[in-house]
Parts: sequence; C-alpha cells; structure tokens
Amino acid sequence: MVVLGIETSCDETSASVVDGGRVRSNIVSSQQVHRRYGGVVPELASRAHQRLIVDVVRQALADADTDLSRIDGIAATCGPGLVGALLVGLNVGKSLAYGLDIPFIGVNHMEGHLYSTFLGDPRPEYPYLSLVVSGGHTMLVHIPAPLRHRVLGQTHDDAAGEAFDKVAKMLGLGYPGGAAIDRRARLGDPAAVDFPRAYLHDHPFAFSFSGVKTAVLYHLKHLGVSPGEPGSLPEPVVNDICASFQRSVTDVLITKTFRAAELLPVRHVSIAGGVAANSELRERASEECLRRNLVLSTPALQYCMDNAAMIAYVGMLQLESGRVSPLDLSADPGLAISEDADSLPTPVRGVPA
Ligand code: KG4
Ligand code: ZN
Repeated sequence: MVVLGIETSCDETSASVVDGGRVRSNIVSSQQVHRRYGGVVPELASRAHQRLIVDVVRQALADADTDLSRIDGIAATCGPGLVGALLVGLNVGKSLAYGLDIPFIGVNHMEGHLYSTFLGDPRPEYPYLSLVVSGGHTMLVHIPAPLRHRVLGQTHDDAAGEAFDKVAKMLGLGYPGGAAIDRRARLGDPAAVDFPRAYLHDHPFAFSFSGVKTAVLYHLKHLGVSPGEPGSLPEPVVNDICASFQRSVTDVLITKTFRAAELLPVRHVSIAGGVAANSELRERASEECLRRNLVLSTPALQYCMDNAAMIAYVGMLQLESGRVSPLDLSADPGLAISEDADSLPTPVRGVPA
C-alpha cells in the first residue's frame, strides 16, 4: 500500500510517500520566518504553508520516483495544532483524494509521533510504552496493539520542549532552543544548580515543567541578569544552567517512564517527539533499558521532529484496518488521542492518574 502523507500542524511543511510501511521520501521544509519573533506566529505559519505545500508534495512524489496515479490513499494531519496551519494540509489532502477518487485519512499528529518509532529499526513490539515529548505535548501512552491507546498521563502545564524553548530564550540561545541547550549542557555541570523536579506524587504519570522554567528565571534574576539578555553571563555559567535544567527535566521524564514500564506488561519502550532528539534523554533511557532488560526504540532524528512520514504511516495503519475519514472532516486544534478504555492492564488501574 502506497500512502502520501501531509503534515502542516505547526511550522514544518512536510510531505512523504510511505510504501508498505517503508519511507520512500520525506520532504520537510522548516519555516525560518518565525526565528526573529522567538516563537511560531500562527498567521505567518499558515501563509508559509500555502506558499510551500504544492512544491513540497511534488518533491515528495519525485523523490519517491512515483506520481499521484500510483498513490492508494492520502493522509493529512487534522489536529492538534494551529487551526490555520492544519487547514492548509488538510484541504490539500482532501482535494487530492477527491480528485483522484482514493481514500482520505485524517491523522492525529500525536498518533503520528506515537508510531514514528516504526519508521526505523528496531521497531517496537506490541504491547509497548511510549513517551512522546515535543514542543506542544508531553505524554505517556500504553499501546497494547495497533491503533489502541491509553494515555497514562500528560503535562499539566508546559510541554517539555516548550520548557526547553523558553529557557533557551531566557539564555539568549535562539528559537527553537532545545538543541542549543543540549549542546551547552554537555559542557556544563548538571549539579551546579539544584533546580526543582515536579514528581506530582498524586499523579504518578503526569508532568509539570512550568516550575523548573520559573526557577531558571529567578536564578537569572538572582545572578543580576535580565532574562533574554544574558550578555554579561560567562559561558561556563550558561553551560552549567543548561546542564542543571536539562538534568532536572530528564530526571522526571526517566523516573516516570520507567515507573510505568515496571507496572505495565511491556518489554518495549519508545521515546518520540522533538525532545527525543535530546542526547542525555536518549543515553539515560538506553541505560535504563539495558539495566531492566527492556528494548528501547527511538526514531532517527529526522523522524523525531515533525514530519509527514509518521502521518503517512498512521494513515496506512488506518487504511489497513478499514478506517477512512469523510471529506467534510474539519481541523481540530485540540484533538485528543483516540483512547481505548480496555487497554490498561490491572496493575496500573489502581494507580491514580
Ligand atoms: O516534535 P517537534 O518537532 O514539534 C512539535 O510537535 O512540537 O518538537 C519540537 C521541540 C522543540 O521544543 C525543540 O526545542 C525540541 O523539540 N528539541 C529538543 C532537541 N531538539 C529539538 N529538545 C531538547 N533537546 C534536543 N536535542
Ligand atoms: Zn510534533
């Protein structure tokens, strides 16, 4: 089965051809226009998607050495995300499917991240546990079988990637800043500053990262620098803040993920989403898996970031299970993951979520 995927939920315009579950092409055009504003400007994002989408789709078909006549179905992200941005990819996808008289599948962006691990090797085996950590979301999900999900917990406030981006902005490291913090953290001391860790004991699988972000803000004020203008801070001090902040975030992510892995009947753990590119998170997760005899799957870096290959892959799973979407499907900026009430095994039912 050959599926064309389209992703426009935020600031990446992407199209991909996936054939029998293997990626034949994956074109990602990252919009640079937002950098000077220090964050994504929704109106500019939708305009840029409109400008780029046709060329990106053409390029994805050309790179896959195919054309529209050989596509069996079209999958496009329908939420969550910025509504004006989602509408661009969704309408292109629906129009192509209508014109070609082939099935259209609206795909949840977060489900795309959940299955992005299948785009590389090793592929997880069901049942598995997935930690999705991106700029917009942080969630732990149990996946007992294809397209069956149970969300164990999500962030109560900032997503992990959002905290990375906001701290990077305070340190003058640009936007998005996750990768810059990661690079600096390697040069710093993670024990230099004791930033808080929100374990939320009443919510063992939920997350909160606004506290650590605010702690960085107060730490900068204490050092006498204005957040966003850390010009006077010596490099080693910035590196120590990056390392200490990153250690606080990864402590919480690792502790909660492996607590869930202990309680669930899973042998495979997957970490996906933009923050899964973080080198400390990857290293620590791989050490934990080795210690516990679990198998870790993390997508290749190009599939951690937003991409259409993961959307095409979920589209293929849905087509295989006979699910197609109506052509009047609308964009849903707050779309939740489809949940399966029976997918939690008993040991976890007793744990407050
Ligand atoms: O999945 P993604 O491309 O977009 C969303 O769906 O949000 O994730 C982007 C996020 C940004 O917050 C970015 O700062 C973060 O992933 N990120 C990282 C790293 N690379 C990207 N965070 C920490 N360490 C990294 N190496
Ligand atoms: Zn994403």
